[in-house]
Amino acid sequence: MRDIQFDRHRRLRNSDSLRAMVRETWLRKEDLIYPLFVVEGENIRNEVSSMPGVFHISLDAVLAEINDIVNRGIKSVILFGVPANKDPLGKQAYHEHGIVQEATRLIKAEFPELVIIADTCLCQYTDHGHCGVIEDGKVLNDPTLDLLAQTAVSQAKAGADIIAPSNMMDGFVAAIRAGLDEAGFHDIPIMSYAVKYSSSFYGPFRDAAHSSPQFGDRKTYQMDPSNRMEALREAQSDVEEGADFLIVKPALSYLDIMRDVKDRFPLPVVAYNVSGEYSMIKAAAQNGWVNEKEIVMEKLTSMKRAGADLIITYHAKDVAEWLSN
Ligand code: PBG
Repeated sequence: MRDIQFDRHRRLRNSDSLRAMVRETWLRKEDLIYPLFVVEGENIRNEVSSMPGVFHISLDAVLAEINDIVNRGIKSVILFGVPANKDPLGKQAYHEHGIVQEATRLIKAEFPELVIIADTCLCQYTDHGHCGVIEDGKVLNDPTLDLLAQTAVSQAKAGADIIAPSNMMDGFVAAIRAGLDEAGFHDIPIMSYAVKYSSSFYGPFRDAAHSSPQFGDRKTYQMDPSNRMEALREAQSDVEEGADFLIVKPALSYLDIMRDVKDRFPLPVVAYNVSGEYSMIKAAAQNGWVNEKEIVMEKLTSMKRAGADLIITYHAKDVAEWLSN
């Protein structure tokens, strides 16, 4: 061999043990947040057709599901409600006996240690499918804030541990913080969907939550996927308004944004590994085109490497099991 100079990077890759010693990023069960769709009705445990392995679950079946989740070592769930009745103002979102409020009470009574995150939005509850109050075909910002604050307070009253507003109205963190504080919930943190893009990766979720907009799209409130500085402005506002966690959503196509947010703000960053990201892998795995376990672990690890402290993911139950073995 010629006399050349180079580094021996392979030295640190020589064995499993050595690779584990120098591994920089670890995925832990504590990182996982599992999304759950609770529906009205009885005896329902229906698989969502566009999301294999994800179910619509009625209240009488929810404790068995939670038991399974807790037994796998998952510490937290985020609840999405699919109500039986919708109306223009999304009243079931902030009703004392709304589906999320009822599910929260029920779960909290049996599993007080499980951290329950309540998604706070209106789109599953409005008949037009938008995340706010509509007038003349426009989504109004300020009148929506009051309804979000009411929703958050009703969720906190039901026992939710964390409020996660996802609707992207300006000022939603400030409005919800004020509402929670006024109602005496100073200690309930806000996990804000601070950076939420208007993304095609939400397709399967909208099937699952019956929340597709009935006219237009969400581009006047969710962000343009082309933008990076805008993400920093959004995150900055939420930090100033009192957010305790910052969500970046979707995750996979936005790892650059996750790193930016992590580097700039001293708050826990949460990756939302959304429905489309999940279903693409499920479909490919069902076809035998990819190794599901390996690709999911690689994908979630890359989110942590990009700066995520926590990951909301429909893969959580599988991942928790893989991490145990
Ligand atoms: C609604 C909401 C959406 C998701 C979570 N909350 C979708 C949307 O904006 O239509 C998407 C989650 C996913 O795709 O997994 N505010």
